[in-house]
Amino acid sequence: MDDVLLAELTSEVHSATEAKWILERAMTVDDASRIAPVARAMAARRAGGEPLQYVLGSWSFRTLELLVDDRALIPRPETEQVVEAALERWRRTRPGDGALSIVELGCGTGAICLSLISELRAETRFGECVMTDVSSETLRLAGENALALGIGGLTLRVGNWFAALSEGLRGRVDLLIANPPYVSEGLRGHLDPVLDWEPDIALYAPMSRSGIAGFLHVETIVTQSREWLSPGGVLCLEMSEHHVQAAMELALRVGLVGVEEIRDLAGMPRGITAVAP
Ligand SMILES: C[S@@+](CC[C@H](N)C(=O)[O-])C[C@H]1O[C@@H](n2cnc3c(N)ncnc32)[C@H](O)[C@@H]1O
Repeated sequence: MDDVLLAELTSEVHSATEAKWILERAMTVDDASRIAPVARAMAARRAGGEPLQYVLGSWSFRTLELLVDDRALIPRPETEQVVEAALERWRRTRPGDGALSIVELGCGTGAICLSLISELRAETRFGECVMTDVSSETLRLAGENALALGIGGLTLRVGNWFAALSEGLRGRVDLLIANPPYVSEGLRGHLDPVLDWEPDIALYAPMSRSGIAGFLHVETIVTQSREWLSPGGVLCLEMSEHHVQAAMELALRVGLVGVEEIRDLAGMPRGITAVAP
């Protein structure tokens, strides 16, 4: 590694660790004469406030290395815990003994669904596996990730939550997962500036019909989930800690059973799992 260049990058991004990652990434270019200009360009983007994950172009999530760019939300560490909860709940419940049909609504990079497939493939057969997003650009990135990871047989569908799914899946989804946007629209511009780099559509949500700020998408998914889940099918949703109680009550009202809270590593409520009767 070029120590002079590394020192220059460190002073640009004010972090020796980030400078090292940037240089390591730049060193993957084929033409050695391009390493320094590529590294400097990446450091300039980082110094301009762009999230490190976008600058590097990939980031690790559980067992996977995922392509990440400004077409999608950067997968969060808390979401790794939600995947853990989905795996645990599915292994405990195992609806039916046929092939597992998985749907992820609002897949972003595909972090959740691709992790589930990759971590379950040694122990199960898969039926239909579907990733959806309302943004075709975002969905394209998810498809690039599936391809790069060698995960085939996935269906990618653009559309508004369940409207993206084919009618044939109604009542047949064994594992339904989503991490919908849940930040109140009123908070736009008042949060961590890193969020300004991510797509608004991945972050902000309107007030729900029941009058809860940022809860509309969670409310929609919980309410409609029962008709799409197979008997014994598992719903797993990530959400704001402030929405967990309302989502649990709603899940019971729409007839789901075994409603449980997901807690993150800091012990904060982070989502729910529930089962269709
Ligand atoms: C919080 S991000 C989660 C992304 C990814 N699942 C993850 O956990 O990293 C929410 C995702 O939902 C998508 N989305 C927003 N509104 C949607 C809608 N009405 N229907 C389907 N997807 C939607 C966004 O484009 C975004 O990719």
